[in-house]
Amino acid sequence: MKQILKAAELTSAVNTARQEGKQIGLVPTMGALHEGHLSLIERALKENDLVVVSLFVNPIQFNNKEDLEKYPRTIDNDLRLIANLVAQDGFRATELLAFTPTVEEMYPNGEPKEVYHFGPIEEVMEGPRRPGHFSGVAVVVRRLFDLAQPHRAYFGEKDYQQIAVIRNLLEQIKYPIELVPCPIVRADDGLALSSRNMRLSPAARQMAPAINATLEQAAEMAEYEDVDDVKEWVLDTLASWHEVNECGDGLQFEPEYFEIVDAITLQPIENWDSTDNGAVGCIAVWLDGVRLIDIVKF
Ligand code: PAJ
Repeated sequence: MKQILKAAELTSAVNTARQEGKQIGLVPTMGALHEGHLSLIERALKENDLVVVSLFVNPIQFNNKEDLEKYPRTIDNDLRLIANLVAQDGFRATELLAFTPTVEEMYPNGEPKEVYHFGPIEEVMEGPRRPGHFSGVAVVVRRLFDLAQPHRAYFGEKDYQQIAVIRNLLEQIKYPIELVPCPIVRADDGLALSSRNMRLSPAARQMAPAINATLEQAAEMAEYEDVDDVKEWVLDTLASWHEVNECGDGLQFEPEYFEIVDAITLQPIENWDSTDNGAVGCIAVWLDGVRLIDIVKF
């Protein structure tokens, strides 16, 4: 593993690799790595000759300053985790570059002016609740595409809407990059891994797996219940979780949204058979002052 701080150094390394006919995989992250991120890196190491992992807390995708300042920065530990992973046998890749630029290095001309629009895809779920977020993601991802020139780029289905946005971005900018969606990695009790889980109190951490458990039950209900009934059941079940189960020390789930949408267009569906793309349930829930997101495939 080699750490790279400068954009020019990254570009020159990937140019050389491309001339040698090597396949390049890119895994964009904001650091604070956990097993979820590592699963993306592992997959990239299996499918490419050179892997670029970016670790960059992208200021322009945060909606408020406090969230940006509170974002965990654990770069030494991150690099250790990557080095341990690379040390394992059996990967196709022979080289991993960990790109850790400063904000100035990433945005040398100050805050970028470009704005991306994604139409209906960003008018649902996270979009209206986090204005400017997806444009900020697109700006940094495009810059990473330009610098790393990957053949493949790896994204987690935990951020399901982000994948749809990147798919749309690739159509807009017409880069021949294969988007590789990767499944959610969960804790043993089912909670989707997230850097935000660290902020949960022990009681909240114990209660949090109910989100995934409820979604799994919803997937079973979908066999015989209508879309609207499943939606309502998920929201009601979580909102009344504490009263029914008397756990969590007085804590409550406060669902922000639960939408059942077309897996590609992300538009809400009314009937299970109104799409050929498959249906996905996407949820955002507040618990103990922490906003958790998860998905289920129907
Ligand atoms: P970050 O939140 O660090 O996530 C980096 C990648 O890891 C994303 O593709 C995310 O979906 C994936 N990921 C996170 N938790 C996961 C889990 N439990 N299982 C599988 N994959 C998981 O997403 C971002 O950073 C940023 O928006 C970024 C794309 C890097 C642009 O700044």
